[in-house]
Amino acid sequence: MLDTKENINHQVYEIFPTVIYRGEISCHEEFKQKHLRQLCDYWHYAEDLPREELESPENSGRYFLHHDEKYSDFFKCLSDNVRTYLNVLDVDDSLMKVHVTKSWVNIHKEDLPNIKVHTHNCSDISFCYYVSANKTSDKLCFHQKDNNNEVSEFMFQTTKSGKYNLLKKYNKYNCNNYMVTPIEGTVVLFPSSMMHSTIQLEERIGERISICGDITLTLREDVIKCEYSRLDPSMWRSF
Ligand SMILES: [Fe+2]
Repeated sequence: MLDTKENINHQVYEIFPTVIYRGEISCHEEFKQKHLRQLCDYWHYAEDLPREELESPENSGRYFLHHDEKYSDFFKCLSDNVRTYLNVLDVDDSLMKVHVTKSWVNIHKEDLPNIKVHTHNCSDISFCYYVSANKTSDKLCFHQKDNNNEVSEFMFQTTKSGKYNLLKKYNKYNCNNYMVTPIEGTVVLFPSSMMHSTIQLEERIGERISICGDITLTLREDVIKCEYSRLDPSMWRSF
């Protein structure tokens, strides 16, 4: 007898999942104690800058934190985490170099609006290190436009009232948005092409202070016979 419930079996293959990585910043406590105040002076949306022109950190000119030797302990921890992330992907990181290309300070005050959905251009991996955060901090939200599992059009759409929703509850197969909780002392790494935003779920108590930025990967200088990824910039010629 095969048609009894006990004998009906099925298998779900979870193919092509996206990796969002979180790792610890081992120097966090010391880093925070030593640098928090000075970091705040480098805020890309500071009162002393022409705020109406500040649509992105780049507009402020304040996105070169990685060039300040004072902060090198953090950037070393960051690159260690990038290498662990590459290992999660089973990429041989020993052949690659990790370049931080942009880094800026975000101070999310209690009265500031959410960060709208966006992606980062001209980079491979983006990061967000929570220097100061608590349980009321806005969540980091990732989004996807199309869901391969939504086989019938709008099948996963929901309304607030829930009256005519087809979806019974959200799970990892049917959601298009995924929230990550900020945890102080950790860094979140994600593909720069991922759409992301922040979302406020409760009344904020205190500020959320983070160091965010972008990373580009290249091959090591001496790895020139590999056709994948990019050659190291020392191999480039500029005109
Ligand atoms: Fe961003």
